Amino acid sequence: MSKKIIAPSLLAANFANLQHDIEMVNQSEADWFHLDIMDGVYVPNISFGMPVVKAIAKYAKKILDAHLMIVEPDRYIQTFADLGVNNLTVHYEACTHLHRTIQAIKDAGMKAGVALNPHTNIDLLEDTISDIDIVCIMSVNPGFGGQSFIENTYDKVKDLKSLIKAKKTKTLIEIDGGVTSKNAKKLVDAGADILVAGSFIFKSENPPQTIIELKNTIS
Ligand code: DX5
Ligand code: ZN
Repeated sequence: MSKKIIAPSLLAANFANLQHDIEMVNQSEADWFHLDIMDGVYVPNISFGMPVVKAIAKYAKKILDAHLMIVEPDRYIQTFADLGVNNLTVHYEACTHLHRTIQAIKDAGMKAGVALNPHTNIDLLEDTISDIDIVCIMSVNPGFGGQSFIENTYDKVKDLKSLIKAKKTKTLIEIDGGVTSKNAKKLVDAGADILVAGSFIFKSENPPQTIIELKNTIS
């Protein structure tokens, strides 16, 4: 079985001492940094934008996995590439011409990710799955950290895994929202490759140890 990826979401980090939390992730067993960009239009919350991503990129020593919860993501693809982002995920629901957006992300030298809201069916990816590097299944409604995991996610992961197998693609499955050591193994057993976790890691007493705990749960 291929290696599973843990991606701590900096949305739950201490923004007053971000460098400290970045160094913690650098030195931990985590694999990626997950960066949640919210515009207050696509989702009812505003997180952080380019200057903060630039500051994170300066210190982060692992893959930067940016999750755009914004309208008109096409306008910023090149900017995120220039900032050093490795994976750029856009929302299915925010893209009028998803195929074009995916190609533009790849042309800019990044891996292309597509996120699906809890109400968006996996079948809608049938015609694009072969072009997508990462599908991010939202296991909460996007916009806030610390929400409860939606149980229907397991079935969606299984449906997506079947589609990936049927189309013989190498697409990775990412789960975002409410991930803890309680649901991590079941998610990986269903087919998940990447687990994003914010609150569970950063609000714990010992974040590096919590990352190890998550890794142990799924390996
Ligand atoms: C939600 C974000 C998530 C969030 C996860 O809109 O996309 O990445 O930070 O946070 P937790 O793990 O606290 O649900
Ligand atoms: Zn996210």
